[in-house]
Amino acid sequence: MFELRVQPQEHVIDQGDDGDNFYVIERGVYDIVVRGTCVGQYDNKGSFGELALMYNTPRAATIIATTEGALWGLDRATFRRLIVKNNYKKRRMYETFIESVPLLKSLELSERMKIVDVLGAKSLQDGEQIIMQGDKADCFFIVESGEVKIMMKSKTKADQQDNTEVEIARCTKGQYFGELALVTNKPRAASAYAVGEVKCLVIDVQAFERLLGPCKEIMKRNIAHYEEQLVALFGSSMDLRD
Ligand code: CMP
Ligand code: CMP
Repeated sequence: MFELRVQPQEHVIDQGDDGDNFYVIERGVYDIVVRGTCVGQYDNKGSFGELALMYNTPRAATIIATTEGALWGLDRATFRRLIVKNNYKKRRMYETFIESVPLLKSLELSERMKIVDVLGAKSLQDGEQIIMQGDKADCFFIVESGEVKIMMKSKTKADQQDNTEVEIARCTKGQYFGELALVTNKPRAASAYAVGEVKCLVIDVQAFERLLGPCKEIMKRNIAHYEEQLVALFGSSMDLRD
């Protein structure tokens, strides 16, 4: 890889160009601009520029540094040798599982395969915290195996002594969590913990926005159900409304 220093307002990538490199962020903040509209931001972490190299397409977005920054670049040929081979393995590994996830049923096969390409995997031990209520959200999870416990502290009871975390739901294989904060642009509404050994698939917020748009309506339908759960537990659903 080679190092690249960038200055504020510098375009690292221009939408429509051919793809030359893939970039990993060492530091700096970068706007993601699609057809003139800012659709997201990388804040001192993450990577970009993989799409044009993976799918032989023009650059799908413009990436502009908003601060001074440093990037690590990987040239197209090396990227393809490493990543395309790895993606092929990943597709074989996760294809069947992804086909079985109810949320993703409404997507085309090619769209589901693009999700496989961007998946990360995370293994957790019993009791490990996956999400912390109140945190800023940057990813979404699907349970690959094991069980995840969703726990919540009522914000409306924040000043009361008995305001301990209570269990509100469990997620098992094929179910997802951590979508709410991404859909509502709010902090995490609850915490999530592994029950026993757990494997989760992780999708970062940029890939979520790009690939899961068609599933957002399905996810939004959940909100009413979440509110009902909270009314049953806390007597109000104010926590989701603030
Ligand atoms: P690429 O198309 O090679 O160049 C622009 C990059 O922006 C793209 O790869 C992705 O890595 C990144 N990106 C982040 N969010 C989006 C988005 N919503 N649409 C398209 N590209 C995006
Ligand atoms: P998010 O707010 O991103 O992080 C915590 C997650 O817990 C949330 O997304 C939902 O996926 C999940 N969850 C499950 N049940 C509820 C509920 N009743 N209220 C809020 N979040 C819930």
